[in-house]
Amino acid sequence: MDTVKVGLVGFGTIGTGVCKILLEAGDRVARRAGRRVQLAKVVDTDLVRPRDITLPEGVLTSDLSQITRDEEIKVAIELIGGLEPARTIVLQLLESGKDVVTANKALLAEHGPELFNRARKLGRSIAFEASVGGGIPIIAAIGQCLSANQIRSIHGILNGTSNYILTQMEDQASSYETALANAQKLGYAEANPTMDVDGSDAAQKLAILAHLAFGARVHWKNIARVGITSVDLADIRYARELGYRIKLLAVAELVPEGLELHVSPTLVRHGTPLAEVRENYNAIRVVGDAVGGVFFHGQGAGQMPTASAVVADVIDTVLGRAAITFRTLELWSDHREAPVSARDWAKVAGRYYLRLMVADRPGVLAEIAGILGKHEISIASVIQHETEEETEGMVPLVIMTHHATEGAMSKAIAAIDKLPVVRPKSVRLRVRE
Ligand code: HSE
Repeated sequence: MDTVKVGLVGFGTIGTGVCKILLEAGDRVARRAGRRVQLAKVVDTDLVRPRDITLPEGVLTSDLSQITRDEEIKVAIELIGGLEPARTIVLQLLESGKDVVTANKALLAEHGPELFNRARKLGRSIAFEASVGGGIPIIAAIGQCLSANQIRSIHGILNGTSNYILTQMEDQASSYETALANAQKLGYAEANPTMDVDGSDAAQKLAILAHLAFGARVHWKNIARVGITSVDLADIRYARELGYRIKLLAVAELVPEGLELHVSPTLVRHGTPLAEVRENYNAIRVVGDAVGGVFFHGQGAGQMPTASAVVADVIDTVLGRAAITFRTLELWSDHREAPVSARDWAKVAGRYYLRLMVADRPGVLAEIAGILGKHEISIASVIQHETEEETEGMVPLVIMTHHATEGAMSKAIAAIDKLPVVRPKSVRLRVRE
């Protein structure tokens, strides 16, 4: 059997997982790839930190040129994460004739057009299954398996850290801070967890999926996003009482006016598949015009699930399948069909959950209802518990609304928060039907 050499840049958590599969399941990988896949070089700046795998003698180096100068290395895996030096290194790998496999969603969301165009010019490929949903094969599903469909919508739980935190808050009544610290200990969170909890990580993944599924060319920073930092234990309790769980949902939905894109903490009805996604798991529900709804569920973060997707990409690249997919998908290419345009966030409609801290006095509910009514927002239900403890004379009031636009809702909330009988800042979350 022939041998093909691969190089890996980034010997961190995922890199170690990739080495484990390539070294410990070499026969299986060889059968699937049709050739032995030899891990020829692993490049990292840290040559001493102990990892839970021992590399063969002479494989670990801090010198990238041991990959770029070795013509026998055909495939290079980038697992450094972040933008720089990852961008420069991926460009160097492409220039030196390597096909690239990457798990780096931040890099693709930021520099996808540059990197893909460069790879096309050089006749090379970039495979990126691990960049979204970790071990869930969502890139292959949307890019290949569902290619007969016009995708109608994508609803994803795309950040494992946020989902883990929300689950811990719900199941253990953990504080947000404790749950975040545990997520970091378990290795789910990014180096800077702000990107996880403020919706940025999910927005980067959504930007990639929206490009793949709809040709949308929306920079992730232009995707409206709200993180989970505003979610309180009280919201989790009220959501449960109303028959919902709170999930950080990334949504891309095709409507006649364009593509609606946003990342928002959302009340999802208890018992529906998305509501049952627990811990660090990710899930993506995709609706296509022919297939209807399909649901993907699995670990979206962590060492071995992510390594599973990376090694699958290595096998596809060795087989030559990644090159065909890369060529035909024409991602971020000017030759691609005209992209759909993203809809103004203010016009995106949905139902809302509001939690206000209000004075428990006559006329307060009428004042709030008046403002909502003035903005054409209709109330579906109201909860105020007689037994609720007062804080500084204020009690929580929870309102579920019928459909309203984001623009109307944000104006109404701004007006409500100015009322002397309301203590800002009110919480507003979206509700999925
Ligand atoms: N920090 C990410 C998450 C890991 O929590 O989902 C994978 O991108």
